[in-house]
Parts: sequence; structure tokens; C-alpha cells
Amino acid sequence: MGAVTTEKRGNIAVLSIDNPPVNALGAAVRSSLAEEIQAALDDAATGALVITGAGRMFSGGADIQEFGKERPAGVPSLPEVITAIEGASKPVIAAIHGVAAGGGLEISLGCHWRLAAPGARLGLPEVTLGIIPGAGGTQRLPRLIGVEAALEAIVAGNLMPSEKAHALGIVDEISGNDLVADAVAFAEKLVAAGTPPRRTGELEDRIAEARGKPEIFEKFRQGMARRARGFEAPFACVDSIEAAVNLPFAEGLANEREIFARLVASDQSKAQRHVFFAEREVAKIPDVPKDTPTQPIESAAIIGAGTMGGGIAMNFANVGIPVTVIEVDADALEKGLEVTRKNYASTVAKGRLSQDDMDKRMGLIAGSTDYGDVADADIVIEAAFEDMPLKKEIFQRLDQTCKAETIITSNTSSLDIDEIAAATGRPEKVMGTHFFSPANVMRLAENVRGAETSKDTIATVMDLSKAIGKVGVLVGICDGFVGNRMLYAYTRQAGFLLEEGALPEQVDKVIYDFGLPMGPYAMADLAGIDVGWRVRQAQEPTRPKHLRYSDIADRIYEMDRYGQKTQAGWYRYEKGSRAPIPDPEIEKLIVSVSEELGIERRAIGDQEILERCMYPMINEGAKILEEGLALRALDIDIIWIYGFGFPRYRGGPMFYADLVGADKIYDAMSRLYDEHGEWLKPAPLLEKLAKEGKGFGDL
Ligand code: 3HC
Ligand code: NAI
Repeated sequence: MGAVTTEKRGNIAVLSIDNPPVNALGAAVRSSLAEEIQAALDDAATGALVITGAGRMFSGGADIQEFGKERPAGVPSLPEVITAIEGASKPVIAAIHGVAAGGGLEISLGCHWRLAAPGARLGLPEVTLGIIPGAGGTQRLPRLIGVEAALEAIVAGNLMPSEKAHALGIVDEISGNDLVADAVAFAEKLVAAGTPPRRTGELEDRIAEARGKPEIFEKFRQGMARRARGFEAPFACVDSIEAAVNLPFAEGLANEREIFARLVASDQSKAQRHVFFAEREVAKIPDVPKDTPTQPIESAAIIGAGTMGGGIAMNFANVGIPVTVIEVDADALEKGLEVTRKNYASTVAKGRLSQDDMDKRMGLIAGSTDYGDVADADIVIEAAFEDMPLKKEIFQRLDQTCKAETIITSNTSSLDIDEIAAATGRPEKVMGTHFFSPANVMRLAENVRGAETSKDTIATVMDLSKAIGKVGVLVGICDGFVGNRMLYAYTRQAGFLLEEGALPEQVDKVIYDFGLPMGPYAMADLAGIDVGWRVRQAQEPTRPKHLRYSDIADRIYEMDRYGQKTQAGWYRYEKGSRAPIPDPEIEKLIVSVSEELGIERRAIGDQEILERCMYPMINEGAKILEEGLALRALDIDIIWIYGFGFPRYRGGPMFYADLVGADKIYDAMSRLYDEHGEWLKPAPLLEKLAKEGKGFGDL
């Protein structure tokens, strides 16, 4: 049986794409689809064609695994298949259910009419993979729905429900009943009426409106400049849509194909495709198979309604899971809940949440000062102060109070989960769930596996992360876990750069231009210089004494400059503004520290800053892999993308390392080690990869 099957219903041929799990349009599907179309056109008894998908969906688009590989001889490209569909002499109707994404939607745009099931999701997400739609999407969509709606849809890359697609004019009818039966009936009517095919490529009205109006595109580019900073694909989408308006259809298609081919070969697209698969891979834990039993999580409780607790509670309420928040007293509780309320209210004010939904969500968050109220919760997440004796006491109490099945996790950012688990009689049901701040926004959860954590607990918590809209990554126990441990490696070097001659604004600009949301100094001011100071204090007892760090941050702390909250830190801030302003007082401090250390300040180039910040961090990542604290290099990439805003188009630090080359990073680390000493000692794994000519992706 081919990847596409044909079933005759009267005089209508129903073609089903059958390539589980997502009906991706790989070589076999394209060959088979082209053959089945030709057969139906050649069959005199067939009046019209319906194309649909077998199983869960219409089609998830081109087979992303095939990108960058040679097309087998004799296999048609997707644009060729779609051109054949559009040019067909008999009406072709797409019957869409589940998902029609990317090339999947492009096939249906090549069809002459489209029917969709209620709730199906349609869109062109190519931009998220660092490419543009390459099978006519940028040429046909504007012809159906107009230039401005097409710009919005293609540049954002989201999937939209069929109802919206219907309102926009992508979908002609929403099926009321059996989708394929409705599509067949639709086709029969066309045949009976002798209606000729309506070819999208021949529609001109909607694009004619925008012809000779370059300002529409210019305005759109300006509007998206911030959001799309650093990415190539969103801008290429706009260029290709502009070409749809100004070039004849065939030339527009050729132009689109050229842009597609260029981007698919780019490092950005390779990186974004890596992220697509890595996101799915992190959910797979080699020794916790897919069929590991999980516990249902229908209620939750959070201990502590501070910075983190409130945000974590919102994640549950957002997906309809009732959550109880426990505080030490009524005042602390009210303060915490008030922050949550304000957070929701600001989303309502921005028009991104209805008042009704806000009320429903707040209604799911109950406050209490009585531990007895968490007894029946399926999971309890502790987010009280970072203090081992306190955490042990809380876990002991929870162990005594909660039902036997309750999973208990800690949001600790540095403490030993095994020690915390040992305070309970259920260490197999204890692990870390390390959310990132702000916990209602940042999508990362480092799920920390303890020595005794059971596989069922891990499977349940990993599933839960997904259910509450997070990307859960399993990590092992070490100081700072994966993300913060690498962060320290980077911020430490950033500190030395200041002593040697750089200034905070220069370091921050290099990192910002590299694509992170902000550099280390703007970030320290946002997180609080006092917070960083406390972390360093806690690390002090275990810091090997021959490894120094720059104490400029501690001196700034001692000046009572805590960052944005005191309007002064590494930078100064005008009242009510978050814009960092370089401060001569800080420059004076930095220069005086260099003098004290006997360092002659020198001009430090941007490339050196980038390497000094990134390579030691990658080196730390290599050590983490050696120690088995992250499962794979891709897990580290996902941690950095979702926890710290590492640019997606660079694929995460370890993918970036492979683009640079392990040998180049190893050489640079060796040089730095010779010049600056122990903090920069190359990891054995990095050395091994460099010598074998391999990368982290080969592990
Ligand atoms: N190509 C290859 N593999 C794909 C794929 C694709 N287009 N889409 C999904 N897969 C794989 C996933 O990697 C996953 O594999 P795994 O089980 O081994 O981890 C499996 O299919 C199931 O995927 P999901 O877990 O994501 O399934 P969901 O049901 O949650 O979601 C979906 C379905 C919405 C279709 C989602 O998979 C998705 O967003 N896919 C990508 C859609 C996309 O970007 N399409 C555009 C492709 S580029 C293109 O079409 C170019 C054209 O313009 C020329
Ligand atoms: P916070 O100080 O803002 O909030 C802690 C809250 O816990 C306070 O409201 C306090 O009243 C309450 N509390 C203390 N003892 C309690 C008890 N016995 N029972 C109930 N409530 C109690 O602290 P924050 O920042 O929210 O941190 C919480 C935990 O999350 C810490 O372990 C911290 O290391 C970790 N974390 C913090 C991050 C951050 O950026 N703030 C990021 C990731 C983890």
C-alpha cells in the first residue's frame, strides 16, 4: 500500500495521506500523491478529487528530517506536486481535520476549495524553523486573505483554529458533520453544476489592493523589528509576500523557492530545527520508558507565596487545576495573593485575558495558613526561603500531613534534594522542580532527580510540566543544577573582563547583540544585586580557595546599590524607568579595583568578550555532561533557551559550540587557561571532542 490511498465514493476520488504520526510530506508521500492525483485525473469516471489525511490530522507539513538532504531521483518536489493539484482539470477539494501545518496547509491552498472540521488548526509555522513557506504559501495565502492578514499569519507562524481560518477566507466551509462525507457532497455539487476549478494562483483582487504600496511592508517590518530581532526568517517572509504582490505568480513562486533554499541551508535554520526536535527529545528519559505509570495530578499546593510561589500557583490555575497556597500568616498570604491578582490584572489590561477568565483563575487559587489544607493535594511544591533546616522541617511536616500518594517537590535553586528527601519517609516521591523567575512567564522547569526518586514520580512530574505549559528538563543534583551552574561560569568571566579593562555597558552590548535578552550586568540589576550576593555567600564555604572571583559586585552590594529596585546597581535608573544608564561612579569603582589588583587596563575587543563569556560556559556544559547531570547536550540547549532566553536561532550553547567547532573552543580555552588559570581549565570531554573532530551533537 502506498503512502497515499484512493477510495472511490461514487464519481469522487478521496485521496488520503497516510504517513503516521503527522502525515509528513516525505519523498514517499509526494511520489504517491502525485501518482494518485494523476490516476484520478486519468480516470474518466472521476468527476472531482478530495484530498484528506488518514489518522489524526491532514498533514504536519514537509518532513523536516529531509531538509538538507538530497532529493531522490524521480521524486517530485512539494511545489511540483502542488502545481499539479492547482493545475488539475477537475475540481480538487481539501478536507482538513486535526492539523494542516506548513506544507500541509500549502497543499490545501493549491486545492480549489477547502473544507475544515470544527477546531482543526491551520497555519504556516515555517518561520519558527528559520525558513519561509517554500511551497507557495507566501504567494497563495495573500491571494486568499489579503496582504495584511497574510503578513500577520506567516510572520507569527501560529496555528489558528478553523473558525478563524473560515472568517479570514482560508477555509470555504466548516463541516457540520462527517468531514469527508461533507467534502464529497461539496464535490458532487461542483461536478453536477459543471463548476470549473477555482485556482488560488489566479486570484488577483486581494493582492491588487497592496500593489505599488511599499509603505505597507515597511511599516510591518518596523513593527516587528523588536520582536524579530536577530532572526532572518521573519524578514524573509515579508520580502517574499511583497514579491507576491509585485511579481507575476510564477515569478513570485520562483523567488519564494530561492529564498527558501537559501534559508534552509543557513545556520539559523539548522539551529531552529535542532530546537524543534530537542524540545520533543527532552521529554524522553532513557531509563524511564514511555509506558511508565503516572499519577493523575488534579490538585496542587504551594508552600510559600513569595516571588516564586505565586507565579508557580498561576501556572496551575491557568490550566484549570485548583491550587492551595500556604503561608506563615494571614498578612504574608494576602500580600502574596495580591501580587498574583495584580499580575493577572495587568494581563487583562493588555487585552490578553478576559476579566471573566481572570476571575475563574483567581477562583482556583485558595489561600491558607493551615498545613492541614494540603493533605489531599496530589502534588505539593515547596517554595519557602532558601534555607536547609527550614526546608527539612517543612518536608517532615508535609510527609506527616499529606496522603501517601502525594508527590512533594522543592523549588530550591541550590540545596541538595537528597538531603531534603531524607527528612521524609517517602524519598521516592520527592524531587526538585526548579522554576525560573518570573515563574508564570519563563517556560523552563529543571526537574531534579534525587538518588531515590522513583521512575513513576519522574514520569508524573515530567508530564505535569507539559500539562502546565512548561518545558520540563530532567537534571541531576549539583550546585546551581545545570542552568545556574553554567551562568556562574559566564558571569565570573564577565567580572574578570571588567577588572582587565571592559565596562559593564560594553559587555552587555556584546551579549545583547549576540541575541540574549540582556547582558550579565543588566540581568544582575534586574534580579537584584542582593540576590547574587546571597548566592555567593552560600557558595563561599565550598569555593576552592585558589579560585578567586571578582568582588566588584560585592562592593556594589555594600554601597546599598541592589539594582533596579533601588534605582542603582551596575547602572543607574531614572524613577519609573527600567532603562540602564551607565554610571561614572561605577566606572570609577571598576578602574580603582583594577589599580588595586595591579592590572593595567587595556582595550578589550568585542570578539574577546564574546569568547570569554561563552566558551567557559560551554566548557562548564561539557563538565556537566561528563558528570551525567544533564542527559544530553540538547537538554542543556533547551535549558538555556527557555530559562535564559538564549537565542533560538543559535540553537542553544552546545549547538552553538558545534557550529563554532569544538577544536576552536578547546584551543581558545587552552589559551585562556594558560593566561588566566584554573577557572578556565578545558573540560576533558571538550578536549576529546576537539581531538576526534567531533561535536556535542555526536555524543
Ligand atoms: N517533519 C518530521 N517530523 C515531524 C514533523 C515534521 N513536519 N512534525 C512532527 N514530527 C515528529 C515529531 O518530531 C515527533 O517525533 P517523535 O515522536 O519521534 O518525538 C512526532 O512527529 C509527533 O510530533 P508532536 O509530538 O509534535 O505531535 P503533536 O501531535 O503534539 O503536534 C504538530 C503535531 C502540530 C503537527 C507538531 O508536530 C508540529 O508543530 N509539527 C511541525 C509543523 C511544522 O513546522 N510544519 C512545517 C514544516 S516545514 C514545511 O512544511 C516546509 C514547506 O513550506 C516547504
Ligand atoms: P521569597 O522570599 O520571595 O518567598 C518565600 C515565601 O515563603 C515568603 O513569602 C515566606 O513568608 C514563605 N515562607 C517561609 N517559611 C514558610 C513556611 N514554613 N510555610 C509557608 N510559607 C513560608 O522567596 P522566593 O524568591 O520566592 O524563593 C523561594 C524558593 O525558590 C527558594 O528556595 C529559592 O531559592 C527558589 N528560587 C528562587 C528564584 C528567584 O528568582 N527568586 C528562582 C528559582 C528558585
